Amino acid sequence: MDSPMALSFLLFIFSLLSLQAFAEDVFVGVNIGTDLSVMPHPTQVVALLKAQQIRHVRLYDADGAMLIALANTGIQVMVSVPNEQLLGIGQSNSTAANWVNHNVLAHYPATNITAISVGSEVLTTLPNAAKILVNALKYIHSALVASNLDHQIKVSTPLSSSIIIDSFPPSQAFFNSSLDSVIVPLLGFLQSTNSFLMLNVYPYYDYMQSNRYIMLDYALLKPLPSNKEAIDQNTLLSYTNAFDTIVDAAYFAMALLNFSNIPIVVSETGWPSKGGSNEPDATLDNANTYNSNLIRHVLNKTGTPKHPGIAVSTYIYELYNEDMKSGPISEKNWGLFDANGRSIYILHLTGSGLVLANDTMNPTYCAAKDGADRKMLQAALDWACGPGRVDCSALLQGQPCYEPDNVMAHATYAFNTYYHQMGKMSGSCNFNGVAAVTTTNPSHGSCSFIGSVVGRNGTLANITAPSMNSTNSDSSANAYGYGALSCAVMMMVGALLGSSIWL
Ligand SMILES: *[C@@H]1O[C@H](CO)[C@@H](O)[C@H](O)[C@H]1NC(C)=O
Ligand SMILES: *[C@@H]1O[C@H](CO)[C@@H](O)[C@H](O)[C@H]1NC(C)=O
Ligand SMILES: *[C@@H]1O[C@H](CO)[C@@H](O)[C@H](O)[C@H]1NC(C)=O
Ligand SMILES: *[C@@H]1O[C@H](CO)[C@@H](O)[C@H](O)[C@H]1NC(C)=O
Ligand SMILES: *[C@@H]1O[C@H](CO)[C@@H](O)[C@H](O)[C@H]1NC(C)=O
Ligand SMILES: *[C@@H]1O[C@H](CO)[C@@H](O)[C@H](O)[C@H]1NC(C)=O
Ligand SMILES: *[C@@H]1O[C@H](CO)[C@@H](O)[C@H](O)[C@H]1NC(C)=O
Ligand SMILES: *[C@@H]1O[C@H](CO)[C@@H](O)[C@H](O)[C@H]1NC(C)=O
Ligand SMILES: *[C@@H]1O[C@H](CO)[C@@H](O)[C@H](O)[C@H]1NC(C)=O
Repeated sequence: MDSPMALSFLLFIFSLLSLQAFAEDVFVGVNIGTDLSVMPHPTQVVALLKAQQIRHVRLYDADGAMLIALANTGIQVMVSVPNEQLLGIGQSNSTAANWVNHNVLAHYPATNITAISVGSEVLTTLPNAAKILVNALKYIHSALVASNLDHQIKVSTPLSSSIIIDSFPPSQAFFNSSLDSVIVPLLGFLQSTNSFLMLNVYPYYDYMQSNRYIMLDYALLKPLPSNKEAIDQNTLLSYTNAFDTIVDAAYFAMALLNFSNIPIVVSETGWPSKGGSNEPDATLDNANTYNSNLIRHVLNKTGTPKHPGIAVSTYIYELYNEDMKSGPISEKNWGLFDANGRSIYILHLTGSGLVLANDTMNPTYCAAKDGADRKMLQAALDWACGPGRVDCSALLQGQPCYEPDNVMAHATYAFNTYYHQMGKMSGSCNFNGVAAVTTTNPSHGSCSFIGSVVGRNGTLANITAPSMNSTNSDSSANAYGYGALSCAVMMMVGALLGSSIWL
């Protein structure tokens, strides 16, 4: 092996490793557009995210109320510099520093801001701003460096996949060369700051615009018979879906400019569930199929044919249907939920258990364990109705869940409510070992227990989420340690009455 080959081999290994390291935390998040006639209150948005176990979101701005509501939830947040603010930031690093102070530093670390997307599809929607785009990223980044947050918070800019020409075969793809004067320094910036390329990937539009040259099943990530797979004749890599094809086209286009170790995050992808008469493929069924297959595909860490096993984290477009969006009917129908938090369709996600849990068919409850120690049950009950912020008013005398008046029944009510308020998060039905998940519905008489998650059926309460300080999915009552709290608990004897303090 002569030395250039050895070197390139090393570079190859290095690039695999650096992509691999990044891929360990694969996730599916959601974009939160706000162009709704009645935008839910930020506390309701956060309750929906928790109920659906969505732990990664992208905002299209850096709305203060939303960032406050996201504080101490463990949810990772990407904030955005809107295109309207881009020119100012790209022309002045003090404007950029102010933006970071006001929109990031004011909320971090309580709100776990992990990325800043600077502008949106700037090269295609705001070509006049293209020449200041990289400056804007650099200024925002240097403000983070000044606060020593550049390792925690990545800076990038979402690109439309339409700037990639000839995406099939992916090995021949290249960036529109008239944009090279921006793309090259942009990739240099992303590489030198260990950031990632943000790509908006819309197989729906590619399919629509291809005059059915692209098969619907290929666009929808449906399993294909092997004779329908698309072979890239240059690499002999075999493609089974448009999503991978577009992501690989981006990898190849970067490699052509000699950037081969920048990971890709898909900042937007999705499928509309409804369209006008000229949009026959915008259907509930197709939207459900696309997003369900997408989630499974991404979380399976299959990677793409060019980089197998290198997961591509992805944000679904989008959380809510945005009824105020102009344009074709499909524009208003990309959401997973309506403004009341009712799901537009129930994803086919049996077993994925990570995001957007499809559990309405399969309700689970949290109940006090048979034979659990009475004192421990009482302490856990007091905690749930106190610091845990469960509304325990139904347990008061004369209310529907007062009978049977024993600690086991009351604790079960409180545990179950807490468990659902926490979006059935793992560890949220433990209570120091005195509680367990069950499929038996403990409802009795007029005392009805929450069985499907909060917000599923438009029953979203206007709750303020309990301020759990933990930052990971294991946040549980355990984290508080009843032992240490017992003093506080004693002071809260009669916490059932005291619970109203927390409402
Ligand atoms: C802003 O730019 C000036 C001149 O380029 C530089 O001296 C200064 O350090 C920059 N400030 C920040 C916060 O990056
Ligand atoms: C934010 O999330 C990242 C990724 O999970 C985690 O490593 C980090 O500790 C979190 N930061 C805060 C301040 O919670
Ligand atoms: C490349 O970009 C230029 C200017 O941004 C645009 O006019 C042109 O249509 C693009 N080419 C293709 C093939 O998309
Ligand atoms: C990429 O690297 C190769 C080999 O080092 C070189 O020949 C080529 O000119 C480079 N391409 C670009 C766009 O820099
Ligand atoms: C999940 O990944 C494995 C290999 O890593 C692969 O065999 C399987 O087909 C993948 N499943 C899906 C649904 O992508
Ligand atoms: C998920 O939803 C689908 C469609 O409604 C349903 O057929 C399936 O049984 C559900 N799976 C679970 C585990 O609830
Ligand atoms: C859910 O909504 C449907 C229709 O709006 C209603 O019939 C049903 O009773 C609701 N279920 C619950 C548990 O609230
Ligand atoms: C929800 O609560 C917030 C703050 O407490 C309040 O401003 C808002 O009006 C409430 N929304 C509804 C629908 O009750
Ligand atoms: C939760 O965090 C706040 C500030 O972030 C802090 O004041 C408070 O003591 C923390 N509570 C617990 C129980 O750790």
